[in-house]
Amino acid sequence: MKADWIMTIFMSFTTMSGFVPAAEVQHVHFGSTIILGCNISYLYETAWFKHNPDLIPTVVLYATLKEGRPFELFRLSPRHSASLMNRSLALRITGVQAGDLGLYYCTANMNARVIVGRGTLIHNSSQVLFQHWYPVAVCSGLLVMVLTVCITHWKARHRK
Ligand SMILES: *[C@@H]1O[C@H](CO)[C@@H](O)[C@H](O)[C@H]1NC(C)=O
Ligand SMILES: *[C@@H]1O[C@H](CO)[C@@H](O)[C@H](O)[C@H]1NC(C)=O
Ligand SMILES: *[C@@H]1O[C@H](CO)[C@@H](O)[C@H](O)[C@H]1NC(C)=O
Repeated sequence: MKADWIMTIFMSFTTMSGFVPAAEVQHVHFGSTIILGCNISYLYETAWFKHNPDLIPTVVLYATLKEGRPFELFRLSPRHSASLMNRSLALRITGVQAGDLGLYYCTANMNARVIVGRGTLIHNSSQVLFQHWYPVAVCSGLLVMVLTVCITHWKARHRK
């Protein structure tokens, strides 16, 4: 929980400073279905990892293409499945729960070399409010300050 906040604050800072994080960010509603895209060809058996701060990554899906259809060799739960998207094996998660939040990435063994593909950070959509709350508060504060200074000046002028 604490690590989640640290992650959120870090993401807010990187977003504010215009720094583009390596992983895409997807905000989810609990109970919804999400599809995370991979950029590794479906010709390679693809493993999907889930990585949470301070924890060793877990394999949530291991999939391949069989007779032109995605085929799961391993899946962490029936909610995890493989889906064809953009010529790669995307990860589909149904009935998203709080425990599903975290960083996901696809990997493959390409000619005896492990490559890491596209990553996506899954966030709770309620944290969107927090992410935008800080800059909004700072802007509102500045606006009130400027207005106060203007009104004080205007009043002072009228008194003369
Ligand atoms: C599909 O792949 C192309 C090129 O590899 C890329 O430009 C495009 O953004 C990808 N689309 C999605 C939805 O990932
Ligand atoms: C997939 O995307 C990641 C990050 O977006 C990039 O570092 C990597 O080179 C890409 N891999 C391929 C095979 O396009
Ligand atoms: C996610 O948001 C819901 C409300 O939409 C909230 O009840 C829950 O505590 C949040 N969970 C996390 C991990 O932030």
